[in-house]
Amino acid sequence: MPHDLMSSESLPSFENVAIERDGGTTFVILNRPDKRNAMSPQLHMDMCDALDWAEMDDQTKVVVITGAGGNFCAGQDLKLYFRGTESDPKARVRARRAAHTWRWDRLSSFPKATIAMVHGYCFGGGFTPVIACDFAVAADDATFGLSEVNWGIIPGGLVAWAVTEIMNYRDAIYYSVTGDRFSGKEAAAMKFVNKSVPVENLRAEVMELARKLEAKSPAAVKYTKECVRMVRRMTKDQAMDYLNAKSDALKHVDPEGGRQKAMKMFLDDKVFKPGLGEFKR
Ligand code: COA
Repeated sequence: MPHDLMSSESLPSFENVAIERDGGTTFVILNRPDKRNAMSPQLHMDMCDALDWAEMDDQTKVVVITGAGGNFCAGQDLKLYFRGTESDPKARVRARRAAHTWRWDRLSSFPKATIAMVHGYCFGGGFTPVIACDFAVAADDATFGLSEVNWGIIPGGLVAWAVTEIMNYRDAIYYSVTGDRFSGKEAAAMKFVNKSVPVENLRAEVMELARKLEAKSPAAVKYTKECVRMVRRMTKDQAMDYLNAKSDALKHVDPEGGRQKAMKMFLDDKVFKPGLGEFKR
């Protein structure tokens, strides 16, 4: 649970996760820099709580997931997550559930835009949140690696499944089976991340994207994300039906009435060109 839900800035604090605000963008930061942000059971539980908080926080329009101390994440904590729960099946179940919940279930269906900001090391189980985020931006010199094979285990905990969601099959097999590392630049070339930039520009690049997303209608962002995610596994007819229903629903659930406002501004007032940017809200 959060230690302090109402600090002076109304930001929650956690043992292994830090929260920072930049306008409408909230950084949710894996915060075990001494351990290269390896994911302990406590970190997983903190991430579940932090994402629950960020979802409900009205000021948060965009969530950036990143790691403290110049690294993204060294994967599962070999000592605390694996060895530490070996003889405690209940603790293992709790840790596994929390690990899965935030890294895939919560992030992949998060109602606000999410960006993974990757610098330094990103290994093993650290791949899952990168893949689950809507966007990923890496430092050119970031180091990605599916290192599991190097110590005799598989990319479990959904990692093998998640990598095939985003990598082509040859790359997924190659990097899983060899354990070879790849850089942020290579990750961008294979579209594992949207782009990579020199590390000194990483935050600015992420904030440029975040500001763009902050300016958009939250309801349209949420619905668009849901639609793109859901139709991937539908037939054409199912998708048509689902998308029609979602379009109708959005008209009614958008508290800003974006569609009606935008129509009026474009068709009647002629003060807005939707192809060139969002309407002023
Ligand atoms: N689990 C537990 N502890 C970890 C860890 C992990 N996955 N990754 C790093 N750490 C700890 C180290 O044990 C060390 O702890 P110590 O200071 O108590 O000795 C500390 O973090 C710093 O690690 P170190 O190896 O000294 O730093 P480095 O910068 O030279 O190397 C890595 C960083 C990430 C390349 C290296 O630690 C590593 O290979 N980690 C394992 C990565 C991995 O295979 N992850 C997949 C797990 S699913």
